[in-house]
Amino acid sequence: MSNVSLGILISGRGSNMEAIIKACQANQIKATVTVVISDKKDAKGIAIAKALGITTFVLDINDFSTKQDYEADICRILKGCSVDLVCLAGYMKIVGETILAAFKNRVINIHPSLLPAFKGLNAQKQALDYGVKFAGCSVHYVNDVLDGGPLILQDIVEVSDDDTEQTLSKKILKKEHIIYPRAIQIVLDRLSKREG
Ligand code: GAR
Repeated sequence: MSNVSLGILISGRGSNMEAIIKACQANQIKATVTVVISDKKDAKGIAIAKALGITTFVLDINDFSTKQDYEADICRILKGCSVDLVCLAGYMKIVGETILAAFKNRVINIHPSLLPAFKGLNAQKQALDYGVKFAGCSVHYVNDVLDGGPLILQDIVEVSDDDTEQTLSKKILKKEHIIYPRAIQIVLDRLSKREG
């Protein structure tokens, strides 16, 4: 695949998005982030993406009559940017059938737990509450099962007795920034093998 195009969906801070953009700019991922879309207009990541020279859009689901219409607009933007792979980076909505059908096997996500443990919201708190001694993060394909698609990469962190939700989240996030760019390159290599 030449001129590989990535689209990133965010809802907030955008630190994974930033790691992905920088990995592309450093040629650690053989692709370009062509567009960042946020479902929240106050997402901090929007300003970061703009500062890094990336085209951004904000789409508020409340401006659409249905989730399908909202997702169809997202797809229109992604297709308009010839996006090959859609990367969810702290995008806090469940991706529906419209996006999944338009980008079959081409939507991936990062989740702050060692899946299949601790799916859904507040994964780091769930891990602490359970009392696990190791936690971590997972990059996986997105399908119609919440946080249930095939795994691409994982990494672990050790949980200390004095970890709080905040300190554990910080440790995990550090690993997220390393594995997400790696996972993206793995997926792109798979796609190019399939097409080659
Ligand atoms: C990250 O920890 C990511 O794994 C998590 O949200 C955070 C976003 O941070 N995602 C989920 O919980 C998805 N279920 P970021 O905006 O700084 O990348």
